Amino acid sequence: MKKTFIAASLFLAIGIIGTGCGKKEQSVEELYTSKCQGCHGATLEGTAMPKSNIAGVGSRLSVDEIKSVIVNGKGIMKGGMVTEEEAQQLAEYLKDK
Ligand code: HEC
Repeated sequence: MKKTFIAASLFLAIGIIGTGCGKKEQSVEELYTSKCQGCHGATLEGTAMPKSNIAGVGSRLSVDEIKSVIVNGKGIMKGGMVTEEEAQQLAEYLKDK
């Protein structure tokens, strides 16, 4: 009986933590995972694709410059994959990387 109660409260606690935490962060990450990770990889270090390593991009480019690349594209990366607002969020996200 006691064990069941502990298990139930644990389950509940995990559920609350799981849904309540870092909502905005998560959505930017999801955006990156679905739209960008295919070419830039999970760690930003790129894939086999030439020049796809963008690790440390935040120390080379400003938020506006990163946003401009996302909106307008560059080389084989095409622009317009995400909305203007999402581009801003992604630029801020990458700036901190
Ligand atoms: C089709 C593959 C592809 C996809 C999808 C893609 N990229 Fe890129 N991206 C590239 C390539 C290749 C480059 C290098 C372009 C060049 O310098 O010629 C690049 C360049 C960049 C740069 C600039 C790096 C620099 O130093 O100038 C940023 C920032 C960037 N991508 C972010 C993103 C974000 C954010 C997304 C998701 C919305 C994304 N990319 C989706 C292939 C891709």
